[in-house]
Amino acid sequence: SADAGLNLTNIQGDILIGMKKNKELFFFFTIINSTLFRSQLGSGILPLITPTSQLLAVDTQPTTAVNLAFSQRGLTTLDITDDLGDTAFANGQIDNVASILGDETSNWESAFAGTSIHGVFLLASDTVDNVNATLSQIQALLNGSITEAYSLQGQARPADQQGHEHFGFMDGISNPAVTGFSTPLPGQQVIDPGLFLLGETGDTVTRPAWAKDGSFLAFRQLQQRVPEFNKFLVDNALSNPNLTADQNAELLGARMMGRWKSGAPVDLTPTVDDPVLAADPQRNNNFNYSHPGFDLDTDQTHCPFSAHLRKTNPRAGLTPENTANHIIRAGIPYGPEVTDAENASNVSSTDPSLERGLAFVAYQSDINAGFAFLQQFWANNAGYGVDPIIGTDGLGQPDVPRSPSGLDPADPTRIITIEQDFVVSRGGEYFFSPSLSAIQNTLAI
Ligand code: HEM
Repeated sequence: SADAGLNLTNIQGDILIGMKKNKELFFFFTIINSTLFRSQLGSGILPLITPTSQLLAVDTQPTTAVNLAFSQRGLTTLDITDDLGDTAFANGQIDNVASILGDETSNWESAFAGTSIHGVFLLASDTVDNVNATLSQIQALLNGSITEAYSLQGQARPADQQGHEHFGFMDGISNPAVTGFSTPLPGQQVIDPGLFLLGETGDTVTRPAWAKDGSFLAFRQLQQRVPEFNKFLVDNALSNPNLTADQNAELLGARMMGRWKSGAPVDLTPTVDDPVLAADPQRNNNFNYSHPGFDLDTDQTHCPFSAHLRKTNPRAGLTPENTANHIIRAGIPYGPEVTDAENASNVSSTDPSLERGLAFVAYQSDINAGFAFLQQFWANNAGYGVDPIIGTDGLGQPDVPRSPSGLDPADPTRIITIEQDFVVSRGGEYFFSPSLSAIQNTLAI
């Protein structure tokens, strides 16, 4: 799938294809000795950083893939004064907290709310032991120049849930194809590389030359209230007479997400799951919400307007097709499986060691056109219904009822009110993931 158009040995590997391992540690750090840190970056750390090219072939994959990104505070600490041309990055995610993202500040992890996060190492491997060994190696190389500010251990879910997020839905199916890099699958939108990589075709912002082939990484720790979500589906199960009660609960969940748990798109199979379709990459993304004989602006019999998938990428619902607001997602679940006690009570435990959710990662060249746009102007927007998965009232208030129509295919005008948030933001930060040459020539001394 590679092409000579992009310098794949220079672009960090997580951006275009994701490191795709079963364990991924997000190690957020504070730089306490900038000169020492910079002196170790080129010869010490750079050889450990995994470029895209290394992930493309099985035989060049490292045991532990490593990527590195900096917050604005981190770049400032390194005495990098150039303006990267992104106000959201420059101001930090905390600046977006309530009014743009709709987060409740009180739910934020203190590290994200504070000022100590200068950067993040992303360490991905098959085992936590491998990840920890690489982290020790990095810390030894950095020789006390950083301290841990916070860390989050991501892990794929076990057994047949592998690849599924904690609500049970297959994830990682619909990322955009990148012009000159990936061959699009049927239905996959093809987007200019400049939407994800600074300084490439499609990026129109003026940037310092060294920022080319870097990308902004929006990180979010999104807690998922799984027992509450499951209870909501059971309590509000639809009433298709051909389905069992369990299947009617599954149907409601699928319509809130826009895909079945298998990954089959609701737009193509609105009332029954189709695992064969779900598993077929030639078909599982080949839809755009339009159907002959149906009015795209009123038809919710196929997929509800508010479905998470449709909210975050309306496809043919926008004409001309939107080419401005896209992200590449590379997140991984974190936290343990739901316990029997939580299942029995239908309530998420308050024990911090049982918190679970999505370590959400989105890459884009413009945060206000990428992640922040999708959250604020699409997911949180009541027009066509607030996203039942990630939508908030956009004002930082908890559990504000959302009232989307379209969830019941038998009566698309029926409103099913959702009284609580199933996803709770625990905060995050915006980072810049520089090219390998920028690490070598600009960040290192
Ligand atoms: C797609 C779950 C947060 C943007 C999906 C899919 C699932 C999912 C299951 C379908 C799989 C796929 O098509 O790849 C979740 C969960 C979240 C979450 C459980 C929170 C815990 C977010 C956030 C954003 C987002 C915060 C951006 C603001 C998207 C986009 C797609 C997607 C753009 C693909 C849409 C398309 O191209 O059709 N998500 N998501 N998601 N999600 Fe999320």
